[in-house]
Amino acid sequence: MARNTLIEMTRSLIAHGDAGTMELADEVVRIPASAYTDETLFEREKRQIFRRLPLMVAPSCELPEPGDYKAMDICGVPLLLTRQKDGTVAAFLNMCTHRGNPVASGSGNASRFTCGYHGWTFKNDGALIGVASPQDFGAIDKAAHCLTRFPVYESAGLIWATLDPNSKLDIADYLCGYDELLKAFEFDGWHLFSQRTLSGPNWKTAYDGYLDFYHLPVLHANTFGSDFYNRANYFAFGPHQRLSTPSRYAIKVSGEDDMKMDLAAMNDDEIPQEVLVQGVWTIFPHISIASFYGGGLRGAMISQLFPGDKVGESYTTQFYVMEHKPTDEAAIKAAHDQFDFLEIVVRDEDYKTGKRQHQALQSGLMKDVLFGRNERGGQVFHQWVDKLTNASDDDLIEIFAAEQPSLAAE
Ligand code: FES
Ligand SMILES: [Fe+2]
Repeated sequence: MARNTLIEMTRSLIAHGDAGTMELADEVVRIPASAYTDETLFEREKRQIFRRLPLMVAPSCELPEPGDYKAMDICGVPLLLTRQKDGTVAAFLNMCTHRGNPVASGSGNASRFTCGYHGWTFKNDGALIGVASPQDFGAIDKAAHCLTRFPVYESAGLIWATLDPNSKLDIADYLCGYDELLKAFEFDGWHLFSQRTLSGPNWKTAYDGYLDFYHLPVLHANTFGSDFYNRANYFAFGPHQRLSTPSRYAIKVSGEDDMKMDLAAMNDDEIPQEVLVQGVWTIFPHISIASFYGGGLRGAMISQLFPGDKVGESYTTQFYVMEHKPTDEAAIKAAHDQFDFLEIVVRDEDYKTGKRQHQALQSGLMKDVLFGRNERGGQVFHQWVDKLTNASDDDLIEIFAAEQPSLAAE
């Protein structure tokens, strides 16, 4: 069924490519410039979006083995992810139940965590298994002092967690069937080749750049090239959007040779899976995924964006994941070259521009910014930010219930 949906998208891209058209939004939309600079709104967004909605916290291949863990801080919430003995992932509030010190930092492999303050010990399933000097501390019910669990969900080789232990929003519902399509990447069993973190501008300024192709031949003229096509069609599943170029052609990379494929001449079952996932896949509110083929090996860049401490700051972790771990020196170098190239594109072109743009917007002298009919991705993104920032917890359940894909048989 997911493949049928991907084929439908591809056929629509081919038809638009042949007709020289793209799907346009109904109108040019104005967004108040203050949406990027207002500090009160920024704090609300952190609370209502990042601390309340499911976030894609790690690719599964970052925690491949039982015992693997990663600690991170998201908008002031300390999170600990651990891979359990049975292969499932657990997500915890990374705070010792004695007095709140984080029990883990960084990443590694451990079956238990001993708090560095007074020495309480927790298993990686969150159970409190040791109170230091128990005869002196006094009696407490250990079972009632386990690490606090967050809702967690693993699908399509990606891990989501909700930083609200009381959230009633089902993570699968939040994804609106989108993870079924993301499965076509087949990230399960891929390898994390490298990762790095970059500083960026306001999180929405940064994220806007992942949601349009309009800027590609201009801002990225020196890297991607000035003949890059600047049109994209958008496919929305709830707030999650895929962008892809309307065209009948696709490049199939195999080994050293690039092969231009005429998709219009192919039967549905002849179109390779990796062609069906081309373009940029964003996961609201903060993820972007795109395929790359450094040295001919299949890889993907997963960009994970979080708001920083101040309204004009964000940080992005770039994960470079690969279908197969490169083994020989030339392949390793090619993968590094590909990843380094993408760092330059994002840091020196997208985020550098975003920081200048943010500084200018902070002058307060511009009332609105514009999103054209060809920038539907940005229009839809800002509408969702607005809607979800203002929604109550109960509204969230209703909003996503209404976004579920129809179960009608295909
Ligand atoms: S805060 Fe962890 S043992 Fe005291
Ligand atoms: Fe860009």
